[in-house]
Amino acid sequence: MKQITVKRYCKHRTPTPSIDATYSLPQKVKFLLDALDFIKEEIDPSLTYSHGCRSGICGSCAVRVNGKEQLACKYKLESNDHIEALDKLPIIKDLVVDQERALESLKRAHTFFQPPANSAQSPQELERIETQSDCILCASCFSACPVLEVDSAFLGPFALTRAYRYINDSRIDNAQTTIDAIQTKGVWNCTLCGECTLVCPQGIDPKNDILMLRTKSVQAGYSDPTFGSGGGDDFLSGGLDPNF
Ligand code: FES
Repeated sequence: MKQITVKRYCKHRTPTPSIDATYSLPQKVKFLLDALDFIKEEIDPSLTYSHGCRSGICGSCAVRVNGKEQLACKYKLESNDHIEALDKLPIIKDLVVDQERALESLKRAHTFFQPPANSAQSPQELERIETQSDCILCASCFSACPVLEVDSAFLGPFALTRAYRYINDSRIDNAQTTIDAIQTKGVWNCTLCGECTLVCPQGIDPKNDILMLRTKSVQAGYSDPTFGSGGGDDFLSGGLDPNF
């Protein structure tokens, strides 16, 4: 048998909405999503979690394991693992979060477009946006971002890496609108810590995309608003990047 602990949350639970519940599982249970299924079917039907494809494609099963974001359907369980909901997003129940805040950041960053009538792309043009297009919207990077911990208005890696994808899309003729949209609480507010890159299950590198967005912003006539100011005590300054 192996044991795992799940942080259960119910806003109606008193005296505290959160409790750690420990469950014993048969040794043969390999993946976290299988373990959650086992608990729900055999131990406690009230356990609440999200899943869809069971194949690492839909992004709906993201949770935190021992403090790090993982897809439950891909994560191989270890004994004594601690499972909890994603961070930075309101918990609806147990491991299910309300993703509205993360999705709202996509709108603020203007990460959408109407394809023109002729939307053909060459293989080379497609290749330029292929990596970022693999995003499965699991919000793991949003959960892992420490800047969002202290500045809830920050757009975050979730929206910025998507902004980079749209700016590089050959079918877009108004990339300037997206570049304008990421200047406030956006591209310059990242600390480049790389936590987002470490947790992305798709191997996307939002930290690098944000660096590229800074270059695009400079080419569009913008500059780091804190550059030359000495940084002051604002640790969110984009000027902390020594490579830029
Ligand atoms: Fe779809 Fe895990 S269930 S990514």
